[in-house]
Amino acid sequence: MVGLGAKPPPSRKGTGSFIDVPKDLLKEIKHLEQLFTIDTAKLKEITDHFVHELEKGLSVEGGSIPMNPTWVMSYPTGYETGTFLALDMGGTNLRVCEITLTDQKSEFDIIQSKYRMPEELKTGDADELWEYIADCLLQFIETHHGDVTKLDKIPLGFTFSYPATQNYIDEGILQRWTKGFDIDGVEGHNVVPMFEAALQRRGVPIKLTALINDTTGTLIASAYTDTSMKIGCIFGTGCNAAYMEDCGSIPKLAHLNLPPETPMAINCEWGAFDNEHKVLPRTPYDEQIDNDSPRPGQQAFEKMIAGLYLGEIFRLVMVDLHDNREINIFANQDIEKLRRPYTLDSSFLSSIEEDPYENLSETADLFQNKLNISPNGPELELIRRTAELIGTRAARLSACGVAAISRKKGFKECHVGADGSVFNKYPHFKERGAAALREILDWPEKTNPKEDDPIEILAAEDGSGVGAALIAALTLQRVQSGNMHGILHPENFR
Ligand code: BGC
Repeated sequence: MVGLGAKPPPSRKGTGSFIDVPKDLLKEIKHLEQLFTIDTAKLKEITDHFVHELEKGLSVEGGSIPMNPTWVMSYPTGYETGTFLALDMGGTNLRVCEITLTDQKSEFDIIQSKYRMPEELKTGDADELWEYIADCLLQFIETHHGDVTKLDKIPLGFTFSYPATQNYIDEGILQRWTKGFDIDGVEGHNVVPMFEAALQRRGVPIKLTALINDTTGTLIASAYTDTSMKIGCIFGTGCNAAYMEDCGSIPKLAHLNLPPETPMAINCEWGAFDNEHKVLPRTPYDEQIDNDSPRPGQQAFEKMIAGLYLGEIFRLVMVDLHDNREINIFANQDIEKLRRPYTLDSSFLSSIEEDPYENLSETADLFQNKLNISPNGPELELIRRTAELIGTRAARLSACGVAAISRKKGFKECHVGADGSVFNKYPHFKERGAAALREILDWPEKTNPKEDDPIEILAAEDGSGVGAALIAALTLQRVQSGNMHGILHPENFR
C-alpha cells in the first residue's frame, strides 16, 4: 500500500508473470490451462461438427440443436409503423415496453419498465408465473393509459426466450426449460393459452400477435438499422443465435410446400450443441455443473459459455483446489460461503478480470467481502488466471457457433448483432471472440489494426423490445397481404 490506504496506480495488463508463484501452485495453474485452453485445431474441429449439427437440426429426423422455424418471414424495411407492446421474459428480469414505430426510416419511440423476476418463481408454480406476468403488464398499461376497461386490445410481441416449437407464430410449445427455470406443467405445452388465460382473468387488454425468441428479435432489430446484419446472438444468462434460412433448405418443413426462396428465421437453440458429448472438451467441472443442474444432459454448449454458469465453473474450481488437490488453497480458512452453489455470478469473474492493480488488491477485497476469504499473493495469481481461462474459453467457443452459421450460409462478409450481459459487460469477450473467429476462418493477419474483420460481431439493437415490436408489425403486414402461413388465430390480427 502507498500512503494513506491509497492504491498503487493501475498497471496490470493480462496475465501476470507468476515469478513469485511457488512450484506446486504453478503446477495447478498449468493443469487448469490444459483443461480450459482450446487451441485453433480444436476450434476448427468443433466448428466442422457444428455445421453438420445445424444441418441435422433442419432435417426431418432432427438432431440435438432444435433449429426452430419461427415464422418470421422477412427482414424489416425500416418503414414499419404502429404501436406495440413488447414483453420480455428473460432469465433475470421481466421488461415491458411500448414501442411506436414511426414513419421516419428506422426510428421509434419507446417507454419501458423493468420488473425483477423473483427467484422463487423460476422453480415455482406455473399459475403463479403467469399471474405475476399479467400483473406486471396490467400495472404498466394502467400507468401509461389509465383505465384498462376503456382500451382496445393492444398487439403484443412476447419474447419468450426458451426453446419452443412454433407451428404458428402465435404459439410456443415449450420444448424444455433452460437457464435454471424448472416450473412443472409447462414443458410440452403451448404457453400462449396459459398466458392469455391469466390476462383474461386480470382483464388486461392485450392480444398476442407473435411469440418470439430473443435471438430472432435481436436479428430483426439489428437488421432494422444495419442491413449487413445476418445473425442475431445472445451471450447473456443463456446463449443462442438466430439467422434467416430459405424455406427450401428446411427439409422438416417440406410438407408445407412453402416457396423455396422465401426466408424463414431459424432460432437455432445452439445451447444444445453437442449434448451427446462428441466434440466439446468438457472438464470435470462442466460435468459437475451438468449433473447438478435441473436438466442434466441438456444445453451442453450453453453450460460452458453462458453467464449463468461462468461464476459457478470458477467456484467449483476453487472448491476443488481447496478440498481435493495437494495444493489446498485458502488453507485453514473457512470456505463455507464459497461452498454455496451459484453464489458467484459472472460479474464476479468480470471484476476479477478487470482488476487493474499489479497486486490484485481489488480481487483480494472481492474475496474478502463476498466470501470472507483472504487469498495470499500466489493464490490471487491463480484466481486471476482461472477467471481468464474460463472467460477466454467461453468467448472462443462462442466464435465456433458464429463461424458455423457463417460457413453453412456461405457468409464471407457480414455483421452479427450480439446482446446479453456477457457480450456487453464481460471484459475482453469481444476481442477474444474476434481473435478466435479469425483463427477458425483462416483470415490473414490484419495489416492495419483499424481494418474491419470480414465478419464482425457488433452490439445489437434492442431485440426483445424493438425487435419484438417489429416482428409483430411484420406479422400484421403479412396477414394483410394475405400470407397466412404460420398464423393460428387470424382474429388476433384484425
Ligand atoms: C434459451 C434460448 C435463448 C438463450 C438466450 C437459452 O437458454 O434456450 O431460447 O435464446 O438462452 O437468452
